Amino acid sequence: MIKSEPDKKTIDKVILLYNHKNYLEAINFSIKILKKYPNSILVNNILGVIHTELKNYILAKKIFLKVVSLNPKYNDGYYNLANIYNKLGEEDKAIESYKKVIDLDQNYYKAYNNLGNIFRKKNLNKKALEYYILTIKINPNYIRAFYNLAGVLQHFILDEKNKYINEFFLYLLEKKIIVRPSAIATNVINGLFLNTNLKNNFSLIENNKYPKNLNKIIELLNENKLLLQFMKVCSIPNYYFERNFKKIRNEILNQIYNLNYKKIYLKFLIALSAQCFLNEYVYSETDEEIFKVNKISAKIKKNIKTRKINDLEILILSCYSPLYSFDWCKKIKPSNNLEETFILQYKNYSKEKKQTQKIKSISAINDNVSIKVKNQYEENPYPRWTNLGLSIEPRVIKEVIADINLDIDLKKINFSKNTEILIAGCGTGQHAITTASKYKNSEIFALDLSFNSLAYAKRKAEELNCKNINFIQGDLLDLKKLKKKFDIIESVGVLHHMADPQIGWETLTDCLKKDGLMLIGLYSEKARENIASIRETINSLKIKTTKKNIINFRKDIFESNNTKWDSIKYSPDFYSTSGVRDLLFHVQEHRFTIKKIRSYINKLGLVFLGFEDTYVLDRFKKTYDQKKDLYNLDKWEDFENNNPRIFSGMYQFWVKKL
Ligand SMILES: C[S@@+](CC[C@H](N)C(=O)[O-])C[C@H]1O[C@@H](n2cnc3c(N)ncnc32)[C@H](O)[C@@H]1O
Repeated sequence: MIKSEPDKKTIDKVILLYNHKNYLEAINFSIKILKKYPNSILVNNILGVIHTELKNYILAKKIFLKVVSLNPKYNDGYYNLANIYNKLGEEDKAIESYKKVIDLDQNYYKAYNNLGNIFRKKNLNKKALEYYILTIKINPNYIRAFYNLAGVLQHFILDEKNKYINEFFLYLLEKKIIVRPSAIATNVINGLFLNTNLKNNFSLIENNKYPKNLNKIIELLNENKLLLQFMKVCSIPNYYFERNFKKIRNEILNQIYNLNYKKIYLKFLIALSAQCFLNEYVYSETDEEIFKVNKISAKIKKNIKTRKINDLEILILSCYSPLYSFDWCKKIKPSNNLEETFILQYKNYSKEKKQTQKIKSISAINDNVSIKVKNQYEENPYPRWTNLGLSIEPRVIKEVIADINLDIDLKKINFSKNTEILIAGCGTGQHAITTASKYKNSEIFALDLSFNSLAYAKRKAEELNCKNINFIQGDLLDLKKLKKKFDIIESVGVLHHMADPQIGWETLTDCLKKDGLMLIGLYSEKARENIASIRETINSLKIKTTKKNIINFRKDIFESNNTKWDSIKYSPDFYSTSGVRDLLFHVQEHRFTIKKIRSYINKLGLVFLGFEDTYVLDRFKKTYDQKKDLYNLDKWEDFENNNPRIFSGMYQFWVKKL
């Protein structure tokens, strides 16, 4: 009988050439072997894989079709064929082939994952979720599926029980770089209500036996691992949680010297204290609470030498004010129980204070508005964040940009090998660190007015081992002092806080290389109508921007019956002090329309290349199905008129020089 496969040594040689990316040699060698073994499944399969790598998809498809006809039980062949169908946009055929793979091998986790991706592309998010869950059940170490799961959870509302999902939420919230907790917060809240007894547990707080039940309630809440982790990484954007947390905080304060089961309170208070720190103590407090807190603080100060200090006393105080704000804090030697809270509320703060002295400055700030804006963000660096979603691996600039589908011919553009990127107004670093993780061989220059924001950003970048960012303090109006031109400039949520956004934008344009790309994020007049009306009320009432006023005003909004203001309660920013200040009390805010943006783009000699947000783009494509519509601002204007809240996350779009 004639052998259909060459010997192992020959196969290994093709694989080696492929692994070393010697694609041409690998193809020539494969063709030579196929002359002798035309029906070799293994060699045909590798040849198909090489052509896939070289983007010769039609040829690869032909080869994989041959592979599966030679052996209809060869699951890798079906898998590779499905991938090609997917790349060619033949999604239904891809689904069929992935299902064939699963028929042949029920544990082929990558097939489940890729099916999830196709369903997600088709906007069948619930189905996509099911497939990602199956992928992770088979292979809990397949990290890509967690990224995909996190992606799908941002665009769909969990509305039924699911016995697996809370375990995955917990995993996502424990990891530092898969997803921003705030991006999945609504679904974590849904998961907590649907899949745990949280509602019943909270209802005990409303019961008239409440204070007596405190032990039991804390014990029950402590069993909810997801809740405690959520409290530690995300300022929870929900008033029902806030109301209950406030009641618990108050009752623990009342009973602080009578608590019987110390351990259970320690565990819960560590989470509650982290929650209050993350939301920057946005919860209102009564005069009685303030009195009690001051009394405990004075007692600690008095006992500091004798060390007769109880961990619970310190923890309950840290639920009302950050530890660094108490003058006795630096004299405390924290017990193991307090370690986590001390790092969060004291050591990180001290680190940041030291960092501020090391940050380079390009200029003194002279512009009047910039001075006010700087002061705002020195007092309230925004946002205070924990974890974020980074790219799994960095890619070259063209690959990253190709995914955004901009209106440019990438073949005609020359980017430098070492990409230099400016993040103008980097705030506390989320944006800069995310961008740094996307681009291969990139050097990031992250500029901001506020030293305290930069220090936060720098500490987080170090924590995440992100080494390619230079943090610089200064006004973007003075950027020419850097004497640099950039391949990419990103400035999101910044220009609308300047005295004259056009001058700011012009300065950025002057720093962009000829072929460079610029991402801009600006507030929309339409999407922020309700915010504008609240800001007007604040101005007409002449409410001064103090922490106390911010908290009281927020409390009034929760307690008022004015339904006109309801939508603000759904904004995640409404659940932290810096967020409320940014949202409603900002010293300077301009809002834009698409018309206005178009006029700026024309004046500055720029071209519009397309919007960034995939959720907005997917919605738009449902109405406008021509590719060219994506780049037509008239169509976008119509679209916004019909969907006035669509740009509530800002207009975020790319431009380049004419
Ligand atoms: C709303 S925050 C946005 C931060 C960041 N881009 C993000 O998306 O997380 C605005 C930031 O822009 C900075 N900023 C405002 N005007 C600026 C200016 N003229 N020069 C440099 N930074 C500025 C502020 O200090 C603040 O940190």
